[in-house]
Amino acid sequence: MEQALSRPADGSVVPGISPQLYKEADFARIAALVKAEAGIILSSKKKMLAYSRLAPLVRESGLQTFTEYLNVVDRDVAHRKRVIAALTTNHTYFNREPHHFEHFSDVVRPDLIARSQSKDKVRIWSAGSSSGEEIHTLMMFLLGEDKAKGKAIARGNLLVLASDLAPHAVNAAQAATYDGAAVSKLPDTLRKAWCDPIPGDPTNSVTIAREITQLIRYRQLNLLRAWPFDALFDVIFCRNVMIYFDEPTKAELVLRFARQLKVGGYLYIGHSERVSGEGARLLKPVGATIYQRIEG
Ligand SMILES: C[S@@+](CC[C@H](N)C(=O)[O-])C[C@H]1O[C@@H](n2cnc3c(N)ncnc32)[C@H](O)[C@@H]1O
Repeated sequence: MEQALSRPADGSVVPGISPQLYKEADFARIAALVKAEAGIILSSKKKMLAYSRLAPLVRESGLQTFTEYLNVVDRDVAHRKRVIAALTTNHTYFNREPHHFEHFSDVVRPDLIARSQSKDKVRIWSAGSSSGEEIHTLMMFLLGEDKAKGKAIARGNLLVLASDLAPHAVNAAQAATYDGAAVSKLPDTLRKAWCDPIPGDPTNSVTIAREITQLIRYRQLNLLRAWPFDALFDVIFCRNVMIYFDEPTKAELVLRFARQLKVGGYLYIGHSERVSGEGARLLKPVGATIYQRIEG
């Protein structure tokens, strides 16, 4: 999802909300809030980004200044959630970092399919799934290019979760509608099998096939809070999420992901991310930014 959903361009001035009345102290409050609630670090370079993301909310509230609005945010959980969601960066695209999907297809998929045909439930999680391009790509690779065989795989014993902190991103993932340019990044065979064209749409929009969307549970979930799971996962994708966090938060999350994986399960992280801390000892590197859970 390109940035995003009726936001002004980052850095642009929002009419009625003067940047002159947006003070350092306001930015410090915003940065402290988003760090405490979501783990996201906003460096001082992001001051105007925060302005352009939040000024529409200030204006909508009928208040004149950031300071007044932040006083409301302190008291009101619904406003606080909107502020946090507005400060997330949801950039994503289909078939991002293709080597992950190739590894999944070649190394992980055959065993998952075999097990999903048995009583052994296979669990897959896209954590920080944004608007769904990642999980929809992964499911296309899982089902494969042969539609009949893919439908049989989809009837297997699978639990697939796509979660994100930002409700607008979860809603976009669940809507599963994308323009033609976005899905052109997919291998042709997978796109043809699993993207259904919307008749007469001028941007050649598609919806993701129901066989895929019916498999996925789309949920709002803050990774910093408790996770509602009673079982371990076979595969976790958490890519380009931890880049926004500080080192202690990353290390804590890596440990939680490692513990949430079955022994032998796989963790995929973003190309600029690394595993660190105690969790790294439970994870064996098996490819570029791909890790396998070991005993421990
Ligand atoms: C840049 S997108 C990455 C999307 C996808 N994983 C990819 O690699 O293309 C980062 C996503 O992480 C989500 N996010 C940030 N902090 C989060 C948190 N504390 N809990 C859950 N999701 C979070 C954001 O809402 C955003 O949609």
